[in-house]
Amino acid sequence: MTGDSAPRDGFNSKFGVIAAAAGSAVGLGNIWRFPYVAGENGGGAFLLIYVGFILTIGISVMLAEFVIGRRAQRNALGSFKKLAPGKPWWLIGLMGIVAAFVILAFYSTIAGWTFEYLIQAIGNGFSGKSTSELNQMFADFQTSTFRPILWQLLFMVFTASIILAGVQKGIEKYTKLLMPLLVLLILVMCARSLTLAGAGDGVAFLFKPDFSKISGTVILEALGQAFFSMSIGMGALITYGSYIKKDNYLPGTAFQVALADTGIAILAGVMIFPAVFAFGMSPEAGAGLVFQVLPNIFEAMPGGYIFGVLFFLLLSVAALTSTISVLEVVVAYAIEELNMSRKKATIVFTVAISFLGILATLSFSELSDFEIFGNGIFANLDWLSANLLLPLGGVFIVIFLGWVLGPKAIADEVTNGGSRKMRLFKAFLFIIKYVAPIAILAVFLYGIGVFGK
Ligand code: PHE
Repeated sequence: MTGDSAPRDGFNSKFGVIAAAAGSAVGLGNIWRFPYVAGENGGGAFLLIYVGFILTIGISVMLAEFVIGRRAQRNALGSFKKLAPGKPWWLIGLMGIVAAFVILAFYSTIAGWTFEYLIQAIGNGFSGKSTSELNQMFADFQTSTFRPILWQLLFMVFTASIILAGVQKGIEKYTKLLMPLLVLLILVMCARSLTLAGAGDGVAFLFKPDFSKISGTVILEALGQAFFSMSIGMGALITYGSYIKKDNYLPGTAFQVALADTGIAILAGVMIFPAVFAFGMSPEAGAGLVFQVLPNIFEAMPGGYIFGVLFFLLLSVAALTSTISVLEVVVAYAIEELNMSRKKATIVFTVAISFLGILATLSFSELSDFEIFGNGIFANLDWLSANLLLPLGGVFIVIFLGWVLGPKAIADEVTNGGSRKMRLFKAFLFIIKYVAPIAILAVFLYGIGVFGK
């Protein structure tokens, strides 16, 4: 274990902290998962509930993770051991490590799809194709055996090599410049999407809530998406919190990261849904949605070639800055708790996770008949992480903070030892002690139909 006196790697600047945490939060969750889940769950009503969860529960859990990590100066599991010695709270950290396995396994499948589309964009592969031809192209790729696995493994190698370089050199550097560029690109694509003939239906779908569409499932999916998108509930932000300097104002950081994450998800919606309707596609297309829609937008815009290449390149980077935060949870744990070297930990766990990842990818091809609960391996891992593991992790994290660590230590951490003021401190305490645990559990039970549908 790293002793207290050993200098710990950490983020250097204030912007570095925000870039790294936002880099974790902003990724495929915003641009691939948000549109597909919102599309399957009714659009406007889903968006409303989703934003509501972010502003109340989401920001609070994010701040809770930062507090735990920076207080303990340890990995996701070691933090609980240090703050509550001899008690079983470290099991929360263990659950986070399981969640990291599950998330990285299926996330790397989609990251692999992003690579494929980057290569296609570079080779001008969308050019002159109709909407139905582009759909076919996606289907052919998705159901093939080797290419998706090849890209997935390549992506895992990229993730591992950044983690090998260490937190500060690896994580901070890659996010600072490229994230703002991605936002710029999305803005341009929003403009194109919004000016397509028939775009209005997509705007209405996203922003006009149809309250008759709300159900237990929709509410649970909105909660799960909020957790997934914000990178909360599995200790990624506990781990990053442990790298944040003592003078950083954590509530401000949490707020800014939440704002960036939510803003980009909504922008992704504005980019995708007008185009979905303009090209006569269905918002309920599922996990392939954005890969089927985006090439159509590039085809319909001046400079579409260069925009396509840049977009998939930056999306790959955004995915990478997210997966490094997931792998770092496991690697930081292995270094500090299992006394492994960074190199050994990275290699061992990258290989182990890749095995599960290959199964997730194969569930679109060779293993497509293998179903559990009526769904393939990929869909199960996706559902399990977002809708069960992360919210459950969130429940325990806020309970730990509110009831075990206690208000004094929390106040000390969020005010940097009294040198800053946190205006909503009382509200924050109330949310983590009562509102969040009860609400999350209720949403989960309602969502899986315990109270009847
Ligand atoms: N939030 C990331 C995204 O939106 C995914 C992620 C989930 C990262 C959980 C870390 C932990 O792409």
